Amino acid sequence: MHHITLDSETDFDGWRKAARALALGDVKPSDVSWRVTGDAPELFEPAAAPLEPPHGTFNVPAKFVELAEVAILHRNPERFALLYRLLYRLRIHHDVLELATDPDVAEVAAMAKAVRRDEHKMHAFVRFREIGREHKSHFVAWFEPEHHIVELAAPFFARRFADMPWSILTPDVCAHWDGHAVSITPGVAKSEAPTADRLEETWRSYYASIFNPARLKVQATSKEMPRKYWRNLPEASLINPLKPPKANDTASEMARKQADDIEMLREEAADCRACHLYKDATQTVFGEGRQTARIMLVGEQPGDKEDIAGKPFVGPAGQMLDRALEEAGIDRRTVYVTNAVKHFKFVPRGKIRLHQKPNTPEIKACRQWYERELAAIKPELVVAMGATAAQSVFGKITPINKNRGRPIDLDDGTRALVTVHPSYLLRLPDAEAKAREYRRFVQDLKIAADVLRKSAHAA
Ligand code: URA
Repeated sequence: MHHITLDSETDFDGWRKAARALALGDVKPSDVSWRVTGDAPELFEPAAAPLEPPHGTFNVPAKFVELAEVAILHRNPERFALLYRLLYRLRIHHDVLELATDPDVAEVAAMAKAVRRDEHKMHAFVRFREIGREHKSHFVAWFEPEHHIVELAAPFFARRFADMPWSILTPDVCAHWDGHAVSITPGVAKSEAPTADRLEETWRSYYASIFNPARLKVQATSKEMPRKYWRNLPEASLINPLKPPKANDTASEMARKQADDIEMLREEAADCRACHLYKDATQTVFGEGRQTARIMLVGEQPGDKEDIAGKPFVGPAGQMLDRALEEAGIDRRTVYVTNAVKHFKFVPRGKIRLHQKPNTPEIKACRQWYERELAAIKPELVVAMGATAAQSVFGKITPINKNRGRPIDLDDGTRALVTVHPSYLLRLPDAEAKAREYRRFVQDLKIAADVLRKSAHAA
């Protein structure tokens, strides 16, 4: 029996080194036991058999390494053994990872997915409190992750709060940022985390100014934000309107950055694996535009050019849209432009990537981003361009012609306008039909401009 002791719960390098030596020595997975330093060793555990230095070499797919690096952060105590079993099998069956129904592959994939989900939750739900403000501000947050994700998630906070020293305390480990580097120290008890302070007040004030209780649907909120995180969120107790935050206040700034703002969503969406489309696409193409935009334009999905540029509507459909917006008297720089689906779906045809229409499961998987963009931007009007956009905006299949060209009230108080997609105009073969349909499209956009004009007058 070989007893392997890893330096920590997240010691991927230690696991990799040991697993490689074991696999090269043809040690069967059932002959290996794994533990982490500090775990209680089993009673009367026999002395560890030293690992032979490895001879020879073997290759595993890069995909396995990527998967294992994430899956190893799962809290499942069997993960080291499971990953070794998969590695052992991969030496002979190089394609085993392609078998999604293989129990080992399915379990490792599910573990990696759970870890990614937990990482996203941490990005979204960590709330900092300010301490020691009179001398030197330091921001501290308490979080209880489901898996061993603190080191994985910390770089996000270092980028986002680069100029503010912070600590994230958890029962497993703590991460600290001093403006230069992230350091990791042992975990602490919740009693060591700060409780009430001024930041909480400021954060609540800030949230009150962006939070529309009419929009809060408890079911949707708890789906996205499990209730166990609520108790750590100051805004959870928000019931009455509060004052807006003071300008130039460090704590307000911190609170502002912590809101579900567009930049934060963009970073989160960059790792989206909610459907399979991320696999072939170059990147997530998130929405773009002012956070204060009054109009949100929604298209179908990025095209070939958008997939490469990482920006929505920059290809031929985007040029058509720009022209129509200008004719309708709408400055593109003042609107927020996004897509119902954030990854490019295509089939390769030689050197060309042929656009494929997203299906309902793909639209549904991506809808969380549209909903969160909508909540962050809070536009007065959403313009759904084409059937896919309409399906996402209305949450159900919505025929274009029947609904086109008139403002429709949505459940959350936003208004929506349905029109065609600019690509539809590009595809029309007949020049006359093209010109006619283009005029109708511009006409629809003029209705959008009109809706805003009227609401500005009414205000
Ligand atoms: N078509 C879309 O729906 N969106 C884009 O971003 C580009 C083309």
